[in-house]
Amino acid sequence: MLVGVWLLSEWYKLGSPKPLQLVEMGPGRGTLLHDVLKVLSRFGLSGEDISLHLVEVSEELSVKQEKKLCNGESSSQEQCQDELYYKTSTSSSGSPIFWYRHLSLVPKLFTIFLAHEFFDVLPIHKMQRTKEGWREVLIDIDEGDGPHHLRYVLSNAPTPATKIFTEDEDPRASLEVSPEAAVLCKEVAGRMEEHGGIALIIDYGHDGKDTDTFRAYKNHQQQDPLREPGTADLTADVDFDFLKEQVKEQLVTFGPVTQSSFLTNMGIETRLQNLLKDCKPEERRNLISGFRMLTEPKQMGQKFKFLAFYPGVIKDFLLKNPPEGFYRNLE
Ligand SMILES: C[S@@+](CC[C@H](N)C(=O)[O-])C[C@H]1O[C@@H](n2cnc3c(N)ncnc32)[C@H](O)[C@@H]1O
Repeated sequence: MLVGVWLLSEWYKLGSPKPLQLVEMGPGRGTLLHDVLKVLSRFGLSGEDISLHLVEVSEELSVKQEKKLCNGESSSQEQCQDELYYKTSTSSSGSPIFWYRHLSLVPKLFTIFLAHEFFDVLPIHKMQRTKEGWREVLIDIDEGDGPHHLRYVLSNAPTPATKIFTEDEDPRASLEVSPEAAVLCKEVAGRMEEHGGIALIIDYGHDGKDTDTFRAYKNHQQQDPLREPGTADLTADVDFDFLKEQVKEQLVTFGPVTQSSFLTNMGIETRLQNLLKDCKPEERRNLISGFRMLTEPKQMGQKFKFLAFYPGVIKDFLLKNPPEGFYRNLE
């Protein structure tokens, strides 16, 4: 809900160019976009005023997204041969939706980009410092008595990834890096520099200091990533400093700020008080526990962070009109 309000207010601030092209990278089950569209439509933005562009590699999830965004109905058509999208449909608020396998295929226009729990699922390289210098952590078949059929091994020489992505001055003993994240950030930066736009990245992450965050989840339980590969969700915390580094020539960035601080800056407490005014006891309990889950440091309040990108050419304007939720965390 508050993401929709944020997006709308930032879009107004930049002159509300229409139609609004909204891109979500990795929409999952379409939950965030569904909530955002509800807010936009409440403020009279629906139908042809918006076009929705979903960057999604999983066709299976694209079916779930269509169900969520199109009121359970499927009117989708498969890709025409000349088109760059693989599927198209119409949202329940009457806006066209297109699905793509890669961001590079989306039309180049003024765009609002959303990435919510997307960058943390991209593949990473793991590196480790040794007496001989940086080495890459690789995965090998385990022919010994280990618990899984796979094991981690160190490369016996520098690899292309260690040569490109490590620095001797880095104080860490190990690190993780996602080249795909770099490619996508550069693509966003190039587009925003030429056509304008805003990007909001929301994810678990750190400011370039964390080391070993690669992990797997299956049925909400954490497990060893080498156990039963292909059956668990893999994730690594996002290195926000690395993302900012990729766009610093063309864009200005705000954040990352913690979810707790973003939502507080956006007035979540006032909204909670309003919702609590006339609700039933059961709803009251749910609202309060939802609020705590989102804002308490031990839950999602601290580790979950918000980062925003804007075109560098409007830096002076942004200094006078900083984005809601971030205030003056500009770089
Ligand atoms: C954890 S889910 C995101 C949740 C969603 N954004 C939400 O708000 O509910 C990750 C999504 O990214 C998609 N994905 C993973 N790798 C991708 C890639 N390289 N390009 C596009 N989508 C990708 C997955 O299929 C999935 O839809």
